[in-house]
Amino acid sequence: MQNVILIGFMGSGKSTIGKRLSYKMRITMIDTDSWIEKKEGKTITDIFKDQGESYFRECETHCLEKLIEDKERHVISVGGGLPMNPENWNLLHELGHIVYLQITPENVWERLKNDMKRPLLQGDNPKEKIVTLMNERKETYEQLADTIIDVNGKNFDIILKEIQDKL
Ligand code: S3P
Repeated sequence: MQNVILIGFMGSGKSTIGKRLSYKMRITMIDTDSWIEKKEGKTITDIFKDQGESYFRECETHCLEKLIEDKERHVISVGGGLPMNPENWNLLHELGHIVYLQITPENVWERLKNDMKRPLLQGDNPKEKIVTLMNERKETYEQLADTIIDVNGKNFDIILKEIQDKL
């Protein structure tokens, strides 16, 4: 049985959609950010501050390796930067069906303009940073995806139905 893996940019709704999808599918949901926070005993912000981004990226790969050993089926929501590490590509494919939640930079900005929990967006020009990161990442997201779902302007029920139709 395959896991369902949600990838996509910060603010694309991976965690919220993941929770609802797991409820509908009657399986558990794992969020890689929460898994890492629990294992490290601190927030993502503190991990970035104390150990740096590269340590956090190692934690992400470790999390995927642990999930591969886990025989239970899950919905897995992964941090927005996790798919950018080539080391993670085979692990993601091995884990299951990859669903990319596609969102525009404008909608990310609308959702995250007051966010304080994403270290990568706490600099001087978060709006520009979103555009830059999106340009760097979108091709990789697309290439990894088994299914692409455009989430712009859609409510959760429609998004969930579209995902379930593709599984
Ligand atoms: C990151 C996304 C975050 C979190 C960390 C880095 C990124 O997760 O992993 O702040 O590089 O895009 P979400 O995509 O759940 O916000």
